[in-house]
Amino acid sequence: MLGMSSGENKSRQSRLAFLGTLASGLAHEIKNPLSAMSVNLQMLREDLETAGPPTPREQRLQKRVNVLEREVTRLEEILEGFLRFARGYQLKAVAQSLNALLRETVEFWAAKAAAAGVDVQLVLEPDLPDVSVDATYLKQALLNLLNNAFDALTQRPAAEKSGREQILVCSRRTSAGVELLVIDNGPGIPAEAREQIFDPYFSTKAGGSGLGLPTVRRIVEELGGTVTCDTEVGRGTSFRIVLREANQAAPGEAAAAAEGTLS
Ligand SMILES: Nc1ncnc2c1ncn2[C@@H]1O[C@H](COP(=O)(O)OP(=O)(O)OP(=O)(O)O)[C@@H](O)[C@H]1O
Ligand SMILES: [Mg+2]
Repeated sequence: MLGMSSGENKSRQSRLAFLGTLASGLAHEIKNPLSAMSVNLQMLREDLETAGPPTPREQRLQKRVNVLEREVTRLEEILEGFLRFARGYQLKAVAQSLNALLRETVEFWAAKAAAAGVDVQLVLEPDLPDVSVDATYLKQALLNLLNNAFDALTQRPAAEKSGREQILVCSRRTSAGVELLVIDNGPGIPAEAREQIFDPYFSTKAGGSGLGLPTVRRIVEELGGTVTCDTEVGRGTSFRIVLREANQAAPGEAAAAAEGTLS
């Protein structure tokens, strides 16, 4: 189980907050020169445009400008992704039914999965207590987990596929709170990658941002919940999100109330 105690959590969070401030400042500083480069490349490209057929030299120059523009755009996208992630989210949590949210999100998404031969099942415990969540963001977290499961099941050599690719989305009540599980019977996560999957920019996919799981963690923790991963190579992977029941105080509040520091 990859998890953290709440003490480790707190110090990791304050470290993250500090690094976040530092890095967002840096990212903002990089943005301006980058957009100046982009504008100048645009002008350079216009200057290179000729009425007649371009000479070989002009063709070469145009090609180089194209490469530079592509790379600048890529840098701008990386910065945007980073700033979105670093800013954090101002979540608006409202008491609601987790099962309704799961049905709504998964039923729509399952059609895409079915088209690729992945079977998606919902196993929902009836009569769950409401959870206090921001539906938009919890859906985003859920979609990140579903997309990861989908990638794990579909982006592997045909010889390794069983033909019974499956994703289970479960909800249930436990003593810890209300649980949401996303389980796949894909390849699992090799030991050397397990420690890193929640690190920003860790990705084993071509074109992967590596911000999917850090975003999930960030959203869930802002909701006062936890996310952990269980995985076994060759068997599959399950992500578990534990959310607080809507009518229960945050652990900090409960402790403070017990000590009489809250009136
Ligand atoms: N269900 C899963 N099965 C196997 N590996 C997984 C699973 N979920 C995540 N991983 C591993 O964790 C890595 C990090 O996931 P994360 O969602 O943060 O980024 P990503 O999926 O690579 O990129 P993006 O989310 O931008 O598509 C993945 O690249 C993959 O190696
Ligand atoms: Mg992902």
